[in-house]
Amino acid sequence: DHEGFPHFMLKEIFDQPNVLKDCMRGRIIESPYSHQPEVLLSAVKNHRRELLQAKRIVIVSCGTSWHAGLIGKQLIEHFCRVPVEVAYASEFRYSDPVIEPNDVVMAISQSGETADTLAAIRQAKEKGALIFGIVNSVGSSIARESDTGTYIHVGPEIGVASTKAFTGQLVVLTMIALALGMAKGTVGQEEYEETINELVAIPEKMNKILEQNDKIHALSQKFTYAHNFLYLGRAWNYPVALEGALKLKEISYIHAEGYPAAEMKHGPIALIDAEMPVVFIATHHSLYQKNISNMQEVISRQGHIIAIVTEGDEEIKKMVDEVIEVPQTLACLAPLLSVIPLQLLSYHVAVAKGLNVDQPRNLAKSVTVE
Ligand code: F6R
Repeated sequence: DHEGFPHFMLKEIFDQPNVLKDCMRGRIIESPYSHQPEVLLSAVKNHRRELLQAKRIVIVSCGTSWHAGLIGKQLIEHFCRVPVEVAYASEFRYSDPVIEPNDVVMAISQSGETADTLAAIRQAKEKGALIFGIVNSVGSSIARESDTGTYIHVGPEIGVASTKAFTGQLVVLTMIALALGMAKGTVGQEEYEETINELVAIPEKMNKILEQNDKIHALSQKFTYAHNFLYLGRAWNYPVALEGALKLKEISYIHAEGYPAAEMKHGPIALIDAEMPVVFIATHHSLYQKNISNMQEVISRQGHIIAIVTEGDEEIKKMVDEVIEVPQTLACLAPLLSVIPLQLLSYHVAVAKGLNVDQPRNLAKSVTVE
């Protein structure tokens, strides 16, 4: 039952504002003493000592969960000032990884059954690391074999292309980074509270993007001809570019690549012509002007641009034909909003091509074999 939606994927995209509230429930609270917002995670409280001692954190995951890991690295490094490595679980397990007993290994997995991620944590556990699971499926193998963790609690995800699990993972990673940063004293009270308040405001801002679904639907009809797409973003939005490209590949069968925008000059610019749409994720944060320079380079080569911009943007609107606006938020939370139009774009392109959105060819929801 798609509950009134034509596909599970669309239902799950629209579920995001509500399930993210579930994900935050009981974890973001008002302090009974100061009446200020605070993040309470039992995993961080119960393993405070090991987490504070960690000289480094390694995140292992695959696919969309790996993209969440790339943003998790930025969140944890920003708020906790501890180095974070992000590894594909499949590569980590065969790389004879250097893991010290004081390391913390975080496994991110929607299903909790991904074979490579499970193998990676078993190895890390043997070497004495603390295993921290960020999982959706309650009671799954990765959840059971982790020493501790935080469930994302976004409800079952049925569509093969991951949507609400991704944003749930980002919310959990933000809460972990804030809770740990507070415990370490590496985040100031003001930034801590501002980030929590902005995080709590995300679901309503997502609704404002979802209200533009008809517009995004109309826009996507213009791009069904494409055989290749490029997705470009920087800093916090660079992993969003990777995720947007993966969504399009998976369900629309259109070849797409995500790149940090500045890498364009080092190769991919050779591909740009009138036949290859370029999606820029260029919200109003640092490096905005640099994104604009890259856009000019695409325009001068007759490339077609779809730009994800911050509400009220004037400069980019004057330059490109297709613009989708997302509400203003903090840079570190930008991915939670900028990914939504990309999910919708891939969905509508796939539907227009008559493809099986919920069960794309060759893909399985849980990859339980290598
Ligand atoms: C993408 C997608 C896959 C999964 C990957 C990891 O839409 O669904 O790339 O993200 O197979 O799966 P989990 O998170 O279950 O470990």
